[in-house]
Amino acid sequence: MECVRFAVAGCGFIGALHARVIQSIAGAKVTATLDVEAGKAEKLANVYGCAWYTDAEDMLADPNVDAVAVCLPSGLHQELTIQAAKAGKHVICEKPMDIHLDSARAMIVACRESQVRLGIIMQHRFDEPVQLLKKAIREGWMGRLLWGASRTIWYRDDAYYSNPWRGTWKYDGGGALMNQSIHYIDLLLSIMGDVKSVSAKCRTLGHPQIETEDVGLADLEFKNGALGTIEGTTVSYPGLYAELAVFGEKGTVIIRNDHLAFYRFQDGEKPEFEAALNPEAANQLNLSPEIEDTSHRRQYEDFVRAVLTGTDPTVTGEEGIKSLEVIRAIYQSSDEKREIYL
Ligand SMILES: NC(=O)c1ccc[n+]([C@@H]2O[C@H](COP(=O)([O-])OP(=O)(O)OC[C@H]3O[C@@H](n4cnc5c(N)ncnc54)[C@H](O)[C@@H]3O)[C@@H](O)[C@H]2O)c1
Repeated sequence: MECVRFAVAGCGFIGALHARVIQSIAGAKVTATLDVEAGKAEKLANVYGCAWYTDAEDMLADPNVDAVAVCLPSGLHQELTIQAAKAGKHVICEKPMDIHLDSARAMIVACRESQVRLGIIMQHRFDEPVQLLKKAIREGWMGRLLWGASRTIWYRDDAYYSNPWRGTWKYDGGGALMNQSIHYIDLLLSIMGDVKSVSAKCRTLGHPQIETEDVGLADLEFKNGALGTIEGTTVSYPGLYAELAVFGEKGTVIIRNDHLAFYRFQDGEKPEFEAALNPEAANQLNLSPEIEDTSHRRQYEDFVRAVLTGTDPTVTGEEGIKSLEVIRAIYQSSDEKREIYL
């Protein structure tokens, strides 16, 4: 195989971005679209001159489809992923990989059994400052990690929640934590390691029309003895920032709005950190759900390489499930008013 031919399943907000990214990279192209609404599937297919479907089985029977990009509402990720795996198609699935842990585990098993690749979109792992932070940890510039904070302090208005699946337990699987904060929660976990316990409070404070939390606060203890905090919200007008702050015994790194906001190492300045420092971009307000596609493109390049070489992508199902595990534990802790041990 020299080119991975993708079907984009779910032609809404993020499906359109996936199609654009797939078509723009070497070794990949869009050959089909799928949406329950025929007009949406046809409209996106017309941009790429490809086939379109409203029925998943029909799409999966298309011999011109090697892989499926799952861009459906979050509660529908499992069903299509498992169908696709059984049809021998590789899967790249949007975050959260599903909203239930047993469903996510079933996705991993189905893809491993069918020997197809499963990649979970966590595009911020591919951001340059995150790569630099990982290098700093590898090189010992941070020393032992002491604590880390993931804060997603955003705002979503009533128009955003008028999309009927958002803010529902059945299709969104949660609120500000499961939908928005998951990106920076995933970064915190990928930097700090496995979580030992979680203690949390979640509330719906600013959007009475939604079922799920719009403020979630959690304290974590990691298995390596470090501590962590998570703050996630969609009530903070007008929308401020997503931030990852990591404190080691020899250094501090703060990434805000996907840019390097601050760094300081006892070892002194590092040229690559100095070059990446961009406090101006880091301190912009986050006023819109629109996202730019550079990191999705990097993650697609990684996934296409994995498919073409028969290796695992960087963010496998086993990696993608970690943030889901912690967010489910946060919900359990809030519901049961006790610390949850993972
Ligand atoms: N990585 C990111 O930064 C990012 C950003 C936004 C959304 N997302 C994720 O992408 C997913 C989709 O979010 P969105 O904002 O694009 O939603 P959306 O509502 O804009 O799009 C979802 C699409 O799925 C279609 N659909 C619904 N049920 C279907 C079914 N059974 N079969 C086929 N099509 C169906 C809808 O008609 C719609 O076109 C969610 O899981 C969300 O968490 C990720």
